[in-house]
Amino acid sequence: MSWKTYPKVELHLHHEGAAPPAFIRGLAQEKNVDISKVFDERGHYAYENFVHFLSVYEAATSVLRTPEDYARLTRAVLEESAAHGVVYSETFLSPDFCGGGDVEAWREYLHAIEEVADEAEKTLGITLRGVITCIRHFGPEKARPIAVCAAETKGGFITGFGIAGDEGKGKPRDFTWAFDCAREAGLHLTAHAGEWGGPQSVRDALTDLKVERIGHGVRAIEDLALVDELAEKGVTLEVCPGSNVTLGLYPNWRRHPIEQLRERGVKVTVSTDDPPFFHTTMTREFEELERAFGWDAEVFGEITRTALDAAFCDEDTRARIA
Ligand code: HPA
Ligand code: ZN
Repeated sequence: MSWKTYPKVELHLHHEGAAPPAFIRGLAQEKNVDISKVFDERGHYAYENFVHFLSVYEAATSVLRTPEDYARLTRAVLEESAAHGVVYSETFLSPDFCGGGDVEAWREYLHAIEEVADEAEKTLGITLRGVITCIRHFGPEKARPIAVCAAETKGGFITGFGIAGDEGKGKPRDFTWAFDCAREAGLHLTAHAGEWGGPQSVRDALTDLKVERIGHGVRAIEDLALVDELAEKGVTLEVCPGSNVTLGLYPNWRRHPIEQLRERGVKVTVSTDDPPFFHTTMTREFEELERAFGWDAEVFGEITRTALDAAFCDEDTRARIA
């Protein structure tokens, strides 16, 4: 079956990480910025490993300098997602890259992004919500103003707060101030954990940051007591199988633990993370999961309902999409 037009819900997508390479190259040319190191000879994003990926990501992002650049990016990202049947998407936005953590500067970026999102809802039939993320390797001090940006702009569009970046740096508890600030403002919470860190990293995110969802979380599979706890508590995992396979966390799709997690009762969902970096799309994720585990429309229907249930949106929006 062709999954391209199947209606999809995507919960884990980095806003800049979804930028088509041609879009970033075009902006770099317009602004006369040399980012040749970002691409290989075929024009694909080029990196050696996860930590290098993060620095290439930041170099690519460095050409995005104005609210108008983010408006154009948002349009490109939503067109691409909609072309793969995505009807609801949440993207991670980091005010570190949009005004450097200054609330007033961030508001201008937000306004530009939201305007495009509103338009896309009407023309492309895709609903976007924003999850503000602090960046772990920038450190806990940098995370505070980011949480303030999130708290100050919580509303119809900004509905969540999270943490991305290098899981190898620092501990979740270093970021409790930021997460407490976001929680008190009424934002939903998620954290990248259990991708490069093992089960303890997932436990720490749950205990110290009190998140509702975990970004990745797949390495919980190394501790079955934790898997059962995730299932019991109904924690939703934002699983990005193609990202994990491309980055070498698992040697191939068949060895990815998403099926075992699902069979043990964990709420799993499927997302692309940074699609052009990882040579994936939501359609490809579905095709590979069908090939690896025989997933059919019944399983994908269950996955999609799980994602919509865990979406950081209000009940009216959820009902409209369902
Ligand atoms: N993981 C963690 N941090 C990130 C990513 C990612 O895939 N993309 C951008 N920041
Ligand atoms: Zn991610």
